Amino acid sequence: MKMQVSEMLAQQKMTKEMLVELLGLTGQTDRQTVLDHALAVKAASVGRKVYLRGLIELSNVCGKNCFYCGIRAGNKQVHRYTLAEKEVIDAAVFAWKHQFGSLVIQTGEQSGEGFALLIEQLLIRIHEHTRHELTITLSCGEQPAEVYQRWKKAGADRYLLRIETTNRQLYYTIHPNDAHHAYENRLEALHHLRNSGFQVGTGVMIGLPGQTLENLADDLLFFQKMDVDMVGMGPYIEHADTPLYSLADTLRPPKERFELSLLMIALLRINMPYINIASSTALETLDPLGRQKGLLAGANVVMPNLTPVSDRVNYQLYNNKPNLDKDASTSTASLNTVISEIGETIGFAEPGNSLHFKRRTAK
Ligand code: 5AD
Ligand code: SF4
Repeated sequence: MKMQVSEMLAQQKMTKEMLVELLGLTGQTDRQTVLDHALAVKAASVGRKVYLRGLIELSNVCGKNCFYCGIRAGNKQVHRYTLAEKEVIDAAVFAWKHQFGSLVIQTGEQSGEGFALLIEQLLIRIHEHTRHELTITLSCGEQPAEVYQRWKKAGADRYLLRIETTNRQLYYTIHPNDAHHAYENRLEALHHLRNSGFQVGTGVMIGLPGQTLENLADDLLFFQKMDVDMVGMGPYIEHADTPLYSLADTLRPPKERFELSLLMIALLRINMPYINIASSTALETLDPLGRQKGLLAGANVVMPNLTPVSDRVNYQLYNNKPNLDKDASTSTASLNTVISEIGETIGFAEPGNSLHFKRRTAK
């Protein structure tokens, strides 16, 4: 006999079959039951507090050629930039003064000593200028273990490296099948990050061409198996100047990708109650209330963009990325209102570390 939605939600450990069934729910009432349960789990585990991460898109220079991404090396339309040190420090000081508690530094994937040193020195300088009161997440791609260790030592606390999809075959549909884009390297990098002592985050894109509900259920099980501390995931959004755009007409409609992303967040929260989960910008691209809806589905982190407005147009991973013109003060003021409207509070000046990490390392 088929299990009821409420019975599945009450399970200690959801099986792959249950996850597939829940991800495939089409009835509005059933879906809402899942989202409501996730919100209750969040309230009981990490609480209804939202952590801010000021996002600095430090550089759009990238040596990789992921088929989905607007700033891939092969896209010659993009003007490449790297922020000056002063711009980074200004953004960090803005975050500090506005009590964000935390920063994310994101770049395309670059390699070599020059890049390792750039990040290392920026970390040191940011901490000097902000009295060591900000926690810092890096999202700078795959690097050798020694580089990860240097950055950890220089004052990075967390690292985000999305696996993008855990299905090997799909991975090579969305990446070139060469040594530079090897799935195994990405997995290995996640292990290096873990061994370097970071709070480790990963994530996937939802609604990729050819991606099945079984693939997504496997992604959720992968996060649990890897025992990750944080997850950032969101809908795949096509970009016209990328190879994957040729499959755009095979995609689920945007509304479906959005709803599926909310269910993924909810099921993740239910199965990993203490991790940090970001309500991604891509959610907001597909729905103007996307960020709030992500929080109500179980996410507890948002990342206001602090990149200077003039550079943002050059960091277009996908079409219609929102907030291209809003400067940081405008967007943070509205964020505060929006978050209190849904009954949550911002954890101002708090580091917002992953409770999952604390519990795992206290053992
Ligand atoms: N749609 C959605 N997310 C994307 N990313 C890159 N391109 C896209 C896209 N077209 C995400 C990837 C990457 C992160 C920096 O942005 O998951 O890891
Ligand atoms: Fe580069 Fe990251 Fe875009 Fe891939 S997803 S092309 S690594 S910026």
